[in-house]
Amino acid sequence: MTQQTASTSPAAPLSPFQEKLRTYIRAGYPILYLVTAEEDRAIKLIAGILKEGEAPRRKPYVWSVSRGLCTVDLRPVAAAAPKNPELILPFLLEREDPGIFILEDFHFFLDERAPTSPLIIRQLRDVIGPFKGSYKTIVILSSVLKIPPELEKDVTVIDLELPDEAELLAILEDNIEQFRDDPKVETNLGEGDRERIVKALNGLTLMEAENALAKVIVTNRRIDARDVDLLLAEKEQIIRKSAMLEFYSTPERFGTVGGLDLLKAWLQQRGKAFSDAARAFGLPSPKGLLLVGVPGCGKSLTAKAVAAEWQMPLLKFDLGKVFAPLVGQAEDNMRRAIKMAEAVAPCVLWIDEIEKGLAGTRGPQGDSGVTARVFGTLLTWMEEKTKAVFTIATANDIEGLPPELLRKGRFDDVFFIDLPTPQERANVLAIHLAKHHRDYNDFALERHVAACDGFSGAEIEQAVISSLYLAFAEGEKAKLEDRHLEQAITTTVPLSRSVDPKVRVLWDEARRKWRRASSEGVAGAAAGADAVSEPPPAPKQPKRVFEF
Ligand SMILES: Nc1ncnc2c1ncn2[C@@H]1O[C@H](COP(=O)(O)OP(=O)(O)OP(=O)(O)O)[C@@H](O)[C@H]1O
Ligand SMILES: [Mg+2]
Repeated sequence: MTQQTASTSPAAPLSPFQEKLRTYIRAGYPILYLVTAEEDRAIKLIAGILKEGEAPRRKPYVWSVSRGLCTVDLRPVAAAAPKNPELILPFLLEREDPGIFILEDFHFFLDERAPTSPLIIRQLRDVIGPFKGSYKTIVILSSVLKIPPELEKDVTVIDLELPDEAELLAILEDNIEQFRDDPKVETNLGEGDRERIVKALNGLTLMEAENALAKVIVTNRRIDARDVDLLLAEKEQIIRKSAMLEFYSTPERFGTVGGLDLLKAWLQQRGKAFSDAARAFGLPSPKGLLLVGVPGCGKSLTAKAVAAEWQMPLLKFDLGKVFAPLVGQAEDNMRRAIKMAEAVAPCVLWIDEIEKGLAGTRGPQGDSGVTARVFGTLLTWMEEKTKAVFTIATANDIEGLPPELLRKGRFDDVFFIDLPTPQERANVLAIHLAKHHRDYNDFALERHVAACDGFSGAEIEQAVISSLYLAFAEGEKAKLEDRHLEQAITTTVPLSRSVDPKVRVLWDEARRKWRRASSEGVAGAAAGADAVSEPPPAPKQPKRVFEF
C-alpha cells in the first residue's frame, strides 16, 4: 500500500504541522526534537516543506546508526559519513552545505546511562552556535521524549500531530483505487460516506489507519458505509492498547442519577455549547468540571452519565498508568493520552479520583520531579486546549487536591456533591428499586427515606440490594416487602455517622466553598454533630421522582 498522501505531494498545501516546522527552520532554530512513532510519515512531511526553489535550498538527510547518513530515499550520501554516533555531529559541523539532518533514535545516545552521553551532549551544545547562522538544522526524531537537563533550553520540542483528514482521505482513496478492478471487493460509496469513514479513522496513526482499513476490507470484501462501525470497533481496540485510555460504555443516563438538580441543569446548559452555532455565538467550548464530595454520592456516576447524555464517547483516563514503568516514559504517556483524546473529540475525558493519580506532586517523592512535570503538562493542556474535550474529574480527598488544579481557567466550575437530601434519597431509592424491577409506589417510601437519613446514594443502593437478599432467602417466590427494606436500612451504619470528625469538618468547609450540586433542603440531618435534629419530612408521593 502506498503511503503517498495529499499533504506530502509537492503540489499540496502545507499542513499546519509543516507550516510550524518551516517557521522554526527558517527562524534558524538549531535543534528540533520531533516526538513521533511515525518515522516514515515524519520524514515525508519534513521533505515536503523543502520545496524546489526555496533559497537557500536545504536538503533533508536522514542519519541512523545502522545506515549512516542518507538521502530521504535512503541513498548513502558520502562514503565518509560515519555511522558512529560520536562522530556524526563533528562531521555535520564540518560540512559546508546547508541541510536538515534528521537523526533517528538519537535519544539512546542522550540517555544518562549511555557511557558516551556526556560527549554527545557536549557535541550537541557545540553545534548550536555555528548552526544558527548556517542554514543547518538538526531534527532529533524519536518516539520517546528524552532531553537531558543540560540541553533543555536549546532544544525545541515539536509533536507530530496525528494524520489530518486529508491524509486519511488519501489512504481511503488509495484503497478504493487498489480494489477498483477486484471483482471480489464491492465498492459502494454514497454522498458523505467517505467523510464518515475518514471520521471513523480519526485518532489513528497513518499505519494504524491503513491496517484497520485493510483488515475491514479484506474481512468484509466491501468498501461502503457499513465499514464505519467496524472501523470504530478497530479503533476502540487500538485505543484500548494504549493502556491509559479506555473507551467506557455505560448504561447510566441522567435518568439514573437521583437528585443533583443544579449540577444536571448546569451540564444540560453546557452540553449545548459544543455546537458550531455556539461558536458562532461567541461561546468558548466548555472545558471541564471538577466534582468533589462525600464518597458514594454520585460523582463517578454523573461523570459516566454526562457523556451518554451529550452523545459523546467517554474516555476514562487512568492517571496511574501514565506512571506505570512498563508503559513507557511518563511525560510521553501523558502527551500521547492527550493527543489521543483530542483526536477523538468531541468527547468526554473522565479522570476518576484525580487526587490519587496526582499523589506525588506535593513534596519530594524521589522521582526527580517527573510527577510534577507530568501534572504540569496536564494543567497547561487543560487551560489552553482548543479541541472539544470536556474533562470531568472527580476527587474524594478534598485535602489532597493540589491548589494549582483549582485555579481559574482549568475547570469551568467545581461542584460539591453532598449527602442526598430527603427528596433526593426518595429519588435514589426509587431508581434502585426500579433497577431491580420494583415499583416505588408499592413501598412506604416516606418511612424509608426518613430511616436512611445520612446515607449516601451508594449506601441506599446497597440497602436495596441487601433487602432483596433478605426477601430471596425466604423463598424464590417471596415478595420484597417494606420489612425487608426496613431491616436492611436499620442494619446499615452509614459512613457519615462513623466518619472521623476531622473529615466532617472538611465536608463543612467544602459545602461553604464550592458550588452545590443540589438545591433542596439540608443534607444528611443525622450526619453532623450540629446537624438539624429532625429531617424535613419527605413528601408522601415524592413529586420529583422520575422527573429528572
Ligand atoms: N445520586 C445517585 N443516584 C443514583 N444512584 C446513586 C447516586 N449516588 C450514588 N449512587 C449509587 O452508588 C454508586 C456509587 O456512586 P459513585 O461511584 O458515583 O460515588 P462517588 O461519589 O464517585 O464515590 P467515591 O468518592 O467513593 O468514588 C453508583 O454507581 C450508584 O449506583
Ligand atoms: Mg467515584
